[in-house]
Amino acid sequence: MNKKYCVANWKMNQSLEDCDIFIDKLNSELIHNGVEMIICPSFVHLTQMQKSLNDLQIKLGAQTISEYSNGAYTGETSAEMLNDLNINWTIIGHSERRQLFDETNDDINNKLKVSISKKINPILCIGETLTERKNRKTLEVLKRQIQVACDSIDFSNVEFVIAYEPVWAIGTGEAADLETISETHEQIRSILPELIASSNHISILYGGSVNPGNCKNIINIDNVDGFLIGGASLDPQKFLSIYTQMNEIGVESI
Ligand code: 13P
Repeated sequence: MNKKYCVANWKMNQSLEDCDIFIDKLNSELIHNGVEMIICPSFVHLTQMQKSLNDLQIKLGAQTISEYSNGAYTGETSAEMLNDLNINWTIIGHSERRQLFDETNDDINNKLKVSISKKINPILCIGETLTERKNRKTLEVLKRQIQVACDSIDFSNVEFVIAYEPVWAIGTGEAADLETISETHEQIRSILPELIASSNHISILYGGSVNPGNCKNIINIDNVDGFLIGGASLDPQKFLSIYTQMNEIGVESI
């Protein structure tokens, strides 16, 4: 049984006041039950959120990380800077970074290397576009994304998580159907051993229009070890509802 994760990716959303309201709600209502909760706000809110979180079991993460260690890279945030804040999770290779900011699989490989060198646990995002799926290229694309991103990396000293996010299901309100999720997660699981050493314990999350109404059916699918949630994670009520529904599964199965 792989570890279960419920991860919020707030993208470029939430005011500082929203963050405070969210944290208050978690501090008062969250009941843990074996599922790891990670919240990834904007860089500028990390410190304040870290201070207001009473619950040390809730982890905070960055949404990306620089591939460089330090130097003249205006606007970048290094792994060492995250170490300074005791942030030890980061999302890497989100499709929005790939599409809007031209991140390549090679860049992502560098980012993974840098994060691992500073003991920051990476959540590697992979996913195909609608055209790639229609052209039956999904497996090829996912395999390449993992292969290049993970080339020459030893993940044995960190928790390494993969998030499968079909690009066509992100922010649309329409999650991939259960059969597609099941089939794709099974394919990802089956190719991992040839691409990554000791891949057994890598959790594979699903992301793309997860909400309180569809999460229970998705988490029940084999090889789905949790969620990476965008829109629904902005609302503390919805995020807690998803987390709680995962807990119910966790209690039965861990
Ligand atoms: P939505 O949950 O809004 O579809 O976003 C998914 C996502 O991109 C999380 O990283």
